[in-house]
Amino acid sequence: MKSILKNLVVIGGLAVGIHMPAFADTKVGLVLPYTGTYAALGNAITEGFNMAIDEAGRSDEFTIITEDTEAKPPVGLAKARKLVLQDKVDVMVGVVSSGVLGAMRDFVHQAEVPLIVANAGNNLATGENCSPYIVRVSFSNGQINRPMGTWMAENGVKTVYTLAPDYSAGHQMISSFSAAFTAAGGEVLGSEFTPFGQTKDFGPYLANAQASGAEAIFVFYAGGGAINFVKQYGSFDIKTPLYGSGFLTSPLYVAAEGEAAIGVRASLHYIPTLETPENKAFVEAFMARYGTMPSEYSVQGYDAGLALMAAVDQGGTDSQSIAAALPKVSYVGPRGALEIDPATNNIVQNIYVYDTVMENGALTQKLIDTISSVRDDVAGCQM
Ligand code: BEZ
Repeated sequence: MKSILKNLVVIGGLAVGIHMPAFADTKVGLVLPYTGTYAALGNAITEGFNMAIDEAGRSDEFTIITEDTEAKPPVGLAKARKLVLQDKVDVMVGVVSSGVLGAMRDFVHQAEVPLIVANAGNNLATGENCSPYIVRVSFSNGQINRPMGTWMAENGVKTVYTLAPDYSAGHQMISSFSAAFTAAGGEVLGSEFTPFGQTKDFGPYLANAQASGAEAIFVFYAGGGAINFVKQYGSFDIKTPLYGSGFLTSPLYVAAEGEAAIGVRASLHYIPTLETPENKAFVEAFMARYGTMPSEYSVQGYDAGLALMAAVDQGGTDSQSIAAALPKVSYVGPRGALEIDPATNNIVQNIYVYDTVMENGALTQKLIDTISSVRDDVAGCQM
């Protein structure tokens, strides 16, 4: 397994597998939520990151310091400041919440310590607030949802009602989806935003969605919010089909959602059922190591680890060299071919439309369609 992915990681034409021995230690700050509604996501990203480094046999090159953002913007900013100013990390990896990324952006830019974004999709961080020190290996909120807006309208859905948590990711995911959906001829009949991390009862929102008469409900929820939402959608016995940003039925927590998740159709940049040699090898190694299927969050952590090693091999271990090398990373990994667009520092990748289905007594992901090589517009980014 080790060599399959390692040899495919290229940067500036060099394979990562042929790296020079490192003489300097690289200090990495993992800045992720380990408590709160996104705790499972932070743990999954950490697992993926650790696996990439261990598998490459390079654990002794990296000192890893973890800090809990609690998915709260002021806490995330304080933790980033501590990692840079006190611990003197060379590079940071992490951030799950778009709100936390928004809060950290100016500090990262001014400190000139690179941040490899391993989840948070905040469009602005690779749009009008882009920075040479922010490189995203996960996704942007627009990148996941724009293709789904077009896809649904082109595949017969005429009207939708949207729901999402009331913070930057919720607003960006829904506005990207809605713009593409209406541009392709669909109509949004209603939209509501629910208090982030606090909504226990989705009943009134589901009732409004049903009463709107929309043909479909489209939502973004992740982590604990996704589990609650899908379970309540199931117990409400609502007939309107449920679509979403694929975090809704992530393999990380779909089992906790149970049968209510069956038939949910969603879009995402990775599902563990992709039939490629790179993904099969990754899934096998991940299962052997952790005993569970990997999720999009595991892959984001894994790819952050691969990108970091590739950057260190190319440029060296100091912050400036890592920042300069990161945008040149490209490889074929578990989720397919990917590259970093140097015009925005956001990843370019496939987006997969998938259904959650029951197979052999377990919930799994059935690939429905692939939208290849999705790239964001430059959208005001000036590096
Ligand atoms: C975000 O805040 O950007 C986000 C959080 C969880 C899943 C996906 C995106």
